[in-house]
Amino acid sequence: MGDMVKKGIFISFEGIEGSGKTIQAKLLDEFLRKKGYEVVLTEEPGGTTIGLKIRELLLSVEHKGMTPVTELMLYNASRVQLIKEVIFPSIKKGDIVITDRFNDSTVAYQGYGRGIELNLIDSIDRIVTAGLKPDITMLLDLDVEVGLKRNKGVNKADRLELEDISFHKKVRDGYLEIAAKEPERIKLIDASKSIEEIHGKIVSIVSDLFLKI
Ligand code: TMP
Repeated sequence: MGDMVKKGIFISFEGIEGSGKTIQAKLLDEFLRKKGYEVVLTEEPGGTTIGLKIRELLLSVEHKGMTPVTELMLYNASRVQLIKEVIFPSIKKGDIVITDRFNDSTVAYQGYGRGIELNLIDSIDRIVTAGLKPDITMLLDLDVEVGLKRNKGVNKADRLELEDISFHKKVRDGYLEIAAKEPERIKLIDASKSIEEIHGKIVSIVSDLFLKI
C-alpha cells in the first residue's frame, strides 16, 4: 500500500449563461464539506491572483474589440495558472476539486461560438492541461432564452453575455455535441428543474462516482 498514489477527484461544472452552475457548484461544495471531505472550490476564468486580472480583461465591456484569438489565449492563460497553482497541487494532496467552468467552456464558446477551428483549440489545450481532464463534468443544459432572462434578473452583464442570442445558441449546441462525444465523463443535467432537484441529481451522480473510485 505504501506506493499507492493518493489522488483526489476533479469535478467541473459547465453550461450557458444563467444555467445555475455557479449555485450548484457551491451547493455541492457545502454538501461534501459537511460529509467531511477536503474540498477546493474554484472558478474560471480566475481562481488565482493572475487569473483574476485576466478575468477582468476578458469580461470588461470596454474590451469590445478583443479578437477571438486573444480571447482564446487569455482563457488558456488563466487556466494554466489555475492548474499549476491550485488544481494540480490539490488533486495530488487527495482533495476534491470543484471548478465552475474548465476547458469544455473554451471548446463551446471559442470553438462553436466564435468559430475557431476545434483542432487548433485542442493543440493549445494540450499545452495548457497536459492531458488533465475532469473525472466528471456536470453540464447544466437550459434553453438559451430562459438562461439569459435569468441572468438579466440578477443584473449580470459582462462582455460575453452581451453577445446576441445566436452566439449563445451556438454555444449551447456546442456543449451538447461535446457531451454526445463523451457521455461517460459528461453528465447532461436538465437545468430547468428546481435548484433542489438539480442538487439531488448531482449528489447521486457524485455518489456513483465515489463508488467507482
Ligand atoms: P462565468 O460567467 O461563468 O463566470 O464565465 C465567464 C464568461 O466567460 C462566460 O460568458 C463564459 C466565458 N468563457 C469562455 O468564453 N471561455 C472559457 O474558456 C471560459 C472558462 C469562460
